[in-house]
Amino acid sequence: NLPAQVSIVEVGARDGLQNEASLITTGTKLRFIEGLVRAGLTRIEAGSFVSPKWVPQMADSADIFAELPRNANCTFSALTPNEKGMLAAIAAGVDEVAVFASASESFSRRNINCSITESLARFEPVFALAKSHNLKVRGYVSCVMGCPYEGPIAPEAVLKVSQQLLAMGCYEISLGDTIGTGTPGQTLTLLNTLITDIPVNQLAVHFHDTYGQALANILVALQQGISVIDSAAGGLGGCPYAASASGNVATEDVVYMLNGMGITNGVNIDALVAASAMIFNELDHGPASRSMRALLAK
Ligand code: HMG
Ligand code: MG
Repeated sequence: NLPAQVSIVEVGARDGLQNEASLITTGTKLRFIEGLVRAGLTRIEAGSFVSPKWVPQMADSADIFAELPRNANCTFSALTPNEKGMLAAIAAGVDEVAVFASASESFSRRNINCSITESLARFEPVFALAKSHNLKVRGYVSCVMGCPYEGPIAPEAVLKVSQQLLAMGCYEISLGDTIGTGTPGQTLTLLNTLITDIPVNQLAVHFHDTYGQALANILVALQQGISVIDSAAGGLGGCPYAASASGNVATEDVVYMLNGMGITNGVNIDALVAASAMIFNELDHGPASRSMRALLAK
């Protein structure tokens, strides 16, 4: 039942870098993204149009989009939480946008300062503008397996908000295990609930690796037919509104696993390690990715 081909959504330049305490220059971010493109990544989240007071690291997203290494094979996307963000994203020339909701009320409040219902209302103008500008909208759902404030989250809560986002116009729902607490049994239960009502080709997984469970959970997702995986180069990241969260699953680790399983993914792992090494050179900590460290030590 495994997919023959997987599409990787590289979120390191957004989800990864948004949590770095020291400001990284626009030039450094651009060199990193250029490296990701060279490595063969074709879906790259390059920034977010959110409040610079809330997430200072993403304040230069318009400058990033102005200088991205555009090419026909690569889609560059950005997060847009409301109309203001969407207007800025359109002005910056994004290829695609993403709205982000939560399956947990408490996380919604902490992350975007409103309830789940209010967040969907704030997305309405985003969808309207996306339609008139011919842009695809991806939908994130956070806290699909656990919330830093509420603990375990019921799969039914994830199903509800996912269906609402799809009805509003999202082409794909990315299931965020924001704090990385989920385990394979939980992943299977969640996906079984979702797949009953949502076509599997509209689902992606976005797993943070806080407890080292992400690859195991991804394997379960692959076995259920999911073929879109979010990951961050080197395992960059975390979430500023979930203190206990660490980075996304590392793209290198995902690619190593997919290659070993004979699943096509289009990424050149050595070129990816080079891109990751460049960005970690600018940070005050090393990469979480085991595959990256192993390949660098060879
Ligand atoms: P708010 O305070 O409720 O919004 O924030 P507001 O409409 O009342 O506006 C307050 C101020 O923010 C105003 O400025 C607005 O102009 C400004 P002031 O008059 O005070 O100078 N503002 C904006 N500025 C720039 N861009 C905008 C924007 N909107 C309003 N789009 C808001 C609501 C969502 C903006 C705020 O809460 C925010 O920016 N939150 C940050 C959310 C964020 O980026 N979180 C991290 C990404 S999500 C994530 O990591 C999870 C994910 O990876 C999946 C997973 O792992 O689960 C996706
Ligand atoms: Mg995330």
